Amino acid sequence: MANYLVTGGAGFIGSHLANALLANGHAVTVLDDLSTGHRHNLPLRARLVVGDIQDAPLVGRLMEEADGCFHLAAIASVQRSVEDWAGTHRVNLTGTINILDAARARRVPVVYASSAATYGEQVQFPIRETAPRAPTTAYGADKLGCELHAAVAGGFGVPTAGLRFFNVYGPRQDPKSPYSGVISIFADRLARGLPITIFGDGNQVRDFVYVSDVVRHLVEAMRIASPQAPVFNVCTGKPTSIQALAGTLRDLLGAPADIQWADARPGDIRASLGCPKAATAALGVAATVSIEDGLRTLLDETRETRRAA
Ligand code: NAD
Ligand code: UD1
Repeated sequence: MANYLVTGGAGFIGSHLANALLANGHAVTVLDDLSTGHRHNLPLRARLVVGDIQDAPLVGRLMEEADGCFHLAAIASVQRSVEDWAGTHRVNLTGTINILDAARARRVPVVYASSAATYGEQVQFPIRETAPRAPTTAYGADKLGCELHAAVAGGFGVPTAGLRFFNVYGPRQDPKSPYSGVISIFADRLARGLPITIFGDGNQVRDFVYVSDVVRHLVEAMRIASPQAPVFNVCTGKPTSIQALAGTLRDLLGAPADIQWADARPGDIRASLGCPKAATAALGVAATVSIEDGLRTLLDETRETRRAA
């Protein structure tokens, strides 16, 4: 049994990870400032410390007790980084350096969330880990910075593994902010008979990966974390356009969709489609949930949660 520190564990992906770690018999301490996460996302058996990853003494204390750290805390919205460049940078990069620095004393292994946003616009698909990195937003640049600093941490003997998540979706992804992930917004609004907005022409493509598949990658990544600071895609290799996504959700809900159109968002990339092969070879896992099955499960679970509330 290990004692894991999960930053951002009260958020969407982090809370699913906390559940999985507890189910595997580990102890979990979550560090989260509850800025977008919620206490009610967390299982009772997880210990929650409400605080900021930028608080070096606090992070240092928590790291002293940890056998490993899953670092997921971040301001996860690309659009928020467009609007608040310096503010998101302080959390997304300086906060990560703080985590890596605290891991240095005892060489605590750190598995951290990078992003497909590090690739920016690409011309060759599917995108492999060796593709040039060309982020178009502060969010993507900061995630690339996390990878570079993980390599620096490797020089101090800190084992790390970075996971470039593509577009993650599933239950507990908060739909309430305009910065939320597109699937959470569309599913929530269509289920309530409200119109949805498509930014741009709707032909932009994303590689949507279900959260349980992401959790399996995270768990395995702790096993292979090393001072060489490896980085892997977490994706399905299957493209879905935003317009097709709206159509699939409409069909699954059996309700008409009122679609409004608006200008493309600044910094929004046209196509994001990853190659999962290197992750499968190194971690021994692959994303298995299709977009249709994932959306169906999401809609079922959302209905169930609403009924219970
Ligand atoms: P989320 O917003 O649900 O979770 C992030 C968590 O971090 C929240 O609980 C929030 O309260 C916490 N947090 C934010 N700032 C903090 C701070 N300064 N100190 C402590 N806690 C703080 O987002 P998510 O979708 O679960 O994202 C998790 C990680 O995965 C992030 O690093 C994000 O950048 C990355 N990521 C997500 C996606 C995706 O599609 N959701 C894709 C690529 C990468
Ligand atoms: C997402 C993640 C980001 C991650 C990146 C990796 C969120 C909030 N962001 O960014 O953390 O690093 O994937 O690939 O999960 N859209 C609409 N209508 C809406 C909302 C969005 O048309 O109401 C469009 C956007 O313009 C974009 C696409 O849907 O083209 C996806 O947007 P979004 O879910 O915000 O994700 P990304 O910007 O791809």
